[in-house]
Amino acid sequence: MSAEPLEIYLEEQDLAEGLRSDVRVGLTADPKWLPPKWFYDARGSELFEEITRLPEYYPTRAERAVLVERAGDIAASTGAKTLIELGSGSSEKTRLLLDAFTRRGGLGTFVPLDVSVSALLRSTEQIAADYPGLRVRGIVGDFTRQLDRLPTGGRRLVAFLGGTIGNLLPAERAGFLAAMRAALEPGDHLLIGTDLVKDPAVIVPAYDDAAGVTAEFNRNVLRVINRELGADFDPAAFSHVAYWDPEREWIEMRLRAQRPMRVRVLGWEVDFAAGEELRTEVSAKFHPAGIAAELAAAGFRREEFWTDPDGLFGVTLARAD
Ligand code: SAH
Ligand code: TRP
Repeated sequence: MSAEPLEIYLEEQDLAEGLRSDVRVGLTADPKWLPPKWFYDARGSELFEEITRLPEYYPTRAERAVLVERAGDIAASTGAKTLIELGSGSSEKTRLLLDAFTRRGGLGTFVPLDVSVSALLRSTEQIAADYPGLRVRGIVGDFTRQLDRLPTGGRRLVAFLGGTIGNLLPAERAGFLAAMRAALEPGDHLLIGTDLVKDPAVIVPAYDDAAGVTAEFNRNVLRVINRELGADFDPAAFSHVAYWDPEREWIEMRLRAQRPMRVRVLGWEVDFAAGEELRTEVSAKFHPAGIAAELAAAGFRREEFWTDPDGLFGVTLARAD
């Protein structure tokens, strides 16, 4: 079966308007910052896939190890008819869930949602081809804004993998979980992957790899702004910084200006001092008790919490109460 045409919650125009307003707010702030969703144009999505295969980037392998062990339990205990995946990317690990649901029977529809059209086009075609009988409805949308428009009816399981929830700031995270709960019915489930607090000597290289792929990924946001907004950033003049913040227990990705620069964007000029840093993303790391508390505060009950054998990454199955 082929995938259904993508459902568009976010038009090109909304994306362009969103990027303009984020750039206006973020680049006039002190310190300067940008929200992370703009990394993911076609090239950004490809670079992220490359990151997931790096020796230093343990989260993908660790989360996959959990899903290999637990996908059968997840399919059985949720009894989902619809699997929704937020920030689905390539949906590669999600195939472990689809395989388990296929063995068990009962799953009718898979709904991946992502801001990246290129990633969705590819994943929906491949999954539709590989899972005959499964309805595949890809949605182009923003999971921070459009959870109220998710498909309703039937037992639903929402998967939010890859530790992507850690890319939201704490207040955004609380808002996201509350909106998620409001979009679900009692008995629906949320499956959420979270990277865990551990020795920064393990975490930092995952965000600053020897081959420089993460650095390229980080600089890609400047290329997106150049292309979409006609800006004239010189990406090569920014170096990649991955900073572990021990108080907040998050990794901060930054781009550091190597020299003073004046950048033209949206008809105005943005000045960077030599050494000035632009924050492009945070990736929060979690403690098991903190995850359960945040879920409980939003109206979810934790049913299961699993980690990989090395205890690097956590996967929580929670039920909407
Ligand atoms: N789930 C995959 C990909 C994680 S990378 C994995 O575990 O490997 C994060 C994904 O979320 C990317 O595909 C990116 O395009 C998407 N994304 C980031 N911000 C988003 C937003 N606000 N709304 C929807 N998708 C978003
Ligand atoms: N969700 C991923 C994470 O926090 C996203 C990510 C991985 C990322 N490496 C990155 C984002 C580098 C920006 C830069 O692990």
